[in-house]
Amino acid sequence: MNAGLDNAGLPGSTEKYTHLPVLPREVAHYLSFGERPVRLIDGTVGSGGHSSLLLAANPKALLLGIDRDGEALERAARRLAFAGDRVKLVHGEFGDIAATAADNGFAGADGILLDIGVSSPQIDDPSRGFSWRNDGPLDMRMDASCGISAAELLNTCPEERLAAIFHDWGEIRSARKLAAAVVVRRKTAPFAGTVEFADFCESVLGRTPRGVLPLPTLVFQALRIAVNDELGQLERGLSGALKTLCPGGVMAVISFHSLEDRMVKNFMRDAARGCVCPPDFPVCRCGHRPEVELVTRKAVMAGEEELAANRRSAPARLRVARKTDFEKSN
Ligand SMILES: C[S@@+](CC[C@H](N)C(=O)[O-])C[C@H]1O[C@@H](n2cnc3c(N)ncnc32)[C@H](O)[C@@H]1O
Repeated sequence: MNAGLDNAGLPGSTEKYTHLPVLPREVAHYLSFGERPVRLIDGTVGSGGHSSLLLAANPKALLLGIDRDGEALERAARRLAFAGDRVKLVHGEFGDIAATAADNGFAGADGILLDIGVSSPQIDDPSRGFSWRNDGPLDMRMDASCGISAAELLNTCPEERLAAIFHDWGEIRSARKLAAAVVVRRKTAPFAGTVEFADFCESVLGRTPRGVLPLPTLVFQALRIAVNDELGQLERGLSGALKTLCPGGVMAVISFHSLEDRMVKNFMRDAARGCVCPPDFPVCRCGHRPEVELVTRKAVMAGEEELAANRRSAPARLRVARKTDFEKSN
């Protein structure tokens, strides 16, 4: 199986902004079905890195690739062209995975991958506004065709809500102070650019001491989660993915943030639970059966070799579950 760490030998490796798929060997391992004819869904097809590995490994696999980013789909189309009509690419959100799968003949899929978060091309292209290190418009929308940009959010959002975004999703201690300062400043000079906003954050809260994640990184992360409703998408995507799998089908989810990893972990743990009767019931009355079995007990993380080749793999956490054959009975 070709599950190497780089993109060598796969079409599309000369793109201007490239993305190395994280945990490639592990994803290829858990979503391996030999050469059985299977239907796979990549709910975050991105540049097609993981999908290309899955399609190359199994010539009988069909794949539905979903992404909310139109530019990503163009890259995926180029990289996955080698698989011809075994691939179908759809512009959409994995929060709607159950409906998208049904519309495209992938209900009852054998395997689903969600590799959530931003891609390297999104971070590295200044015009997308995800990075505070390169100057560009404060946009941060993964789907640039809809929704409101980070600048619009900053310039219109009520102060309380802004403070909650900074606190809950950026874990910023002085979230209230920052939100209050944003509201004062935007009255006279609305926010527009990435570097200017990052400088503003540091002017309000001070520069980050060495060895700690820089403050603008945390603020940008919080805004990105809000702009793209990332946690809402994940909640809907997880239950939609479980619904979409066939019995025995496998879901593999990679997350990059502790909030998301906790959601994935709790979702899989709850779905793996059997009887949910109170502990003092002498016999089970609920009849509840596990919907999944846990394939990975702990999150799988990148090893040293991958970390050396791709430092962006460091925060990646992979969790895998297999849908049981039981119908949910309560
Ligand atoms: C980390 S990248 C995936 C990279 C991909 N696995 C590869 O190997 O090239 C995440 C991708 O998911 C997409 N994405 C994030 N949230 C999404 C959502 N809710 N629905 C659909 N796509 C989403 C992003 O636009 C981005 O292209």
